[in-house]
Amino acid sequence: MKTTQRLDKILAHMGYGSRSEIKRLVKMKAVVVNGKPVSDSGLQVNPYEDRIEVDGETVVYKEFIYLMMNKPDGVISATEDNRDRTVIDLLEEKFRHFDPFPVGRLDKDTEGLLLLTNDGKLSHNLLSPRKHVPKMYFAEVQGLVNERDRAVFEAGVTLDDGYVTMPAKLSILSLDEREAGGLSRIELTIMEGKFHQVKRMFEAVGKKVLYLKRMSMGALLLDEHLEPGQYRELTEDERQSLQAEPS
Ligand code: URA
Repeated sequence: MKTTQRLDKILAHMGYGSRSEIKRLVKMKAVVVNGKPVSDSGLQVNPYEDRIEVDGETVVYKEFIYLMMNKPDGVISATEDNRDRTVIDLLEEKFRHFDPFPVGRLDKDTEGLLLLTNDGKLSHNLLSPRKHVPKMYFAEVQGLVNERDRAVFEAGVTLDDGYVTMPAKLSILSLDEREAGGLSRIELTIMEGKFHQVKRMFEAVGKKVLYLKRMSMGALLLDEHLEPGQYRELTEDERQSLQAEPS
């Protein structure tokens, strides 16, 4: 990006403190731009082209942050909550100062892939109902999921509020008849994201989701090395694959 911005705004965005704290750093001659100590914290600087140093350390500027989290059970997909811990509470300060937010919501008891970013445009594209970004879930379901359920999901299920879902792909991974009433392990890919959609789809065929984990969203796959509650930045390839989602 070619535009210039105020130095204090750039440094605040990068987590160097509030505007007044940055003013103090400037006064102490701790901020150097292109080799010269700065005397005005409002100096116009191009963060991609000018070399900014604070206390001798070069500032590597980035506007956006993209994090993949394996969301744990018991945590809310929101930026704030009065009662419960949120996914933002799990982040280190070095990521939190970018003001990331979750792209869409997983239920409090759902685990798995959650993207956190401050890139509103990407979030909007991924969530837009018109884009039909596929989301794949693994679930353990009480009851024996059968061929009829598969056909019903393929055709579209009528939810409790009368909404008919778009065709969804159901794969039965295993059936355990020894459990009371049976236990099924399945994968389900849906192209939309209605409230509690997966749970309500199974309710519509008389079955109950006991455990739910999101495995993928568009081209982005959950990194199997991430334990619940862990997260990492997206690789450049992952970020580009998301931005290339069909429109
Ligand atoms: N469907 C659900 O029912 N819950 C989720 O968290 C995600 C999809």
